[in-house]
Amino acid sequence: MKRVRGTYEVFVRPLLFSLDAETAHHLTIALLQKASLFDPALRVLKSFQLPSKPKTLFGLNFPNPVGLAAGLDKNGVALPVWTALGFGFIEIGTVTAKAQPGNPKPRIFRLPEQQALINRLGFNNDGADAIAQRLRALRASDRWPAVPVGINIGKSRITPLEQATDDYLYSFRVLRDFADYITVNVSSPNTPGLRGLQQPEKLSELLHAIGGEEGTTPKPLVLKISPDLSDAELKAILAVCEENGVSGIIATNTTLDHSSILPQLDQAGGLSGAPLRVKSTALVREIVAQSKIPVIASGGIFDAESAREKFQAGAQLVQLYTGLIYRGPQLLREIMDSL
Ligand SMILES: Cc1cc2nc3c(=O)[nH]c(=O)nc-3n(C[C@H](O)[C@H](O)[C@H](O)COP(=O)(O)O)c2cc1C
Repeated sequence: MKRVRGTYEVFVRPLLFSLDAETAHHLTIALLQKASLFDPALRVLKSFQLPSKPKTLFGLNFPNPVGLAAGLDKNGVALPVWTALGFGFIEIGTVTAKAQPGNPKPRIFRLPEQQALINRLGFNNDGADAIAQRLRALRASDRWPAVPVGINIGKSRITPLEQATDDYLYSFRVLRDFADYITVNVSSPNTPGLRGLQQPEKLSELLHAIGGEEGTTPKPLVLKISPDLSDAELKAILAVCEENGVSGIIATNTTLDHSSILPQLDQAGGLSGAPLRVKSTALVREIVAQSKIPVIASGGIFDAESAREKFQAGAQLVQLYTGLIYRGPQLLREIMDSL
């Protein structure tokens, strides 16, 4: 299908791409944060509202199945704008128990020829307490999103791996009241040792502890996994998820497989965007073949066709990140029109 270049691709992207990737990101988020507080701006965005394609999953009502992936709004500063743009759900984070600056810059790299990004941000975020305070203020206003909000939690860098469970539990306790679902992120490649938490015993301990914390209104727990798992690793993870009543799996996070990237363009970090598409769709297909746990697909969605591929593989919902950087909000419209 032919891709239509919207205003974003023609006018906004060249401006943003003339800046360093992280500067462009901060500028965009700052503007969206301002717009989130400005009702006329929200009304203009809402006037382009997309048709409703409702879906119910793990007890939540999604007005449509296309969501914002974690990492774009790590600190939860622009929730009203994402809703106004028409996303069917929003995932903020990754949030860690302690505020942290992340890795040294530069740490986000564009690969326009490959329609890809490489990042090694390392969970830069304001920390669970500050983000909870921000969400509390938003909830007290009349701007809280009408769509499900997921909060993605990860391990603080300074916390030793052996104490990871307590670190996740801290964020879970502080943030759960604001979340419609909680994503347990054990798959970022940029926090040393984090992916080791996908090992069955460690994962079981973590999910059991968080599951055991559930209060009177249990929140669906979703696990976000790496695309770089072997068949045996995936099988073991699915068994642990079933034992622990995990509600959903996000497949996938960024990849450490850089084989499609020319050495002179390569950088250390997680690769996202078009080169991840096939690999992450294959994982969605595998999970659906082996388990009844619903899948949220993330990885390389750039147009209606790549979104359809995820649904055909059996995904219930999809999430966008790198495609949005390259194609802007037009991408959401294009996918919605094709559903
Ligand atoms: C710059 C950047 C930052 C990201 N930060 C996070 C994060 O904090 N937590 C997380 O779970 N995923 C994070 N991701 C992964 C995305 O949520 C998504 O799963 C991945 O990029 C694959 O989707 P895509 O190809 O559509 O980008 C990040 C991705 C990028 C490009």
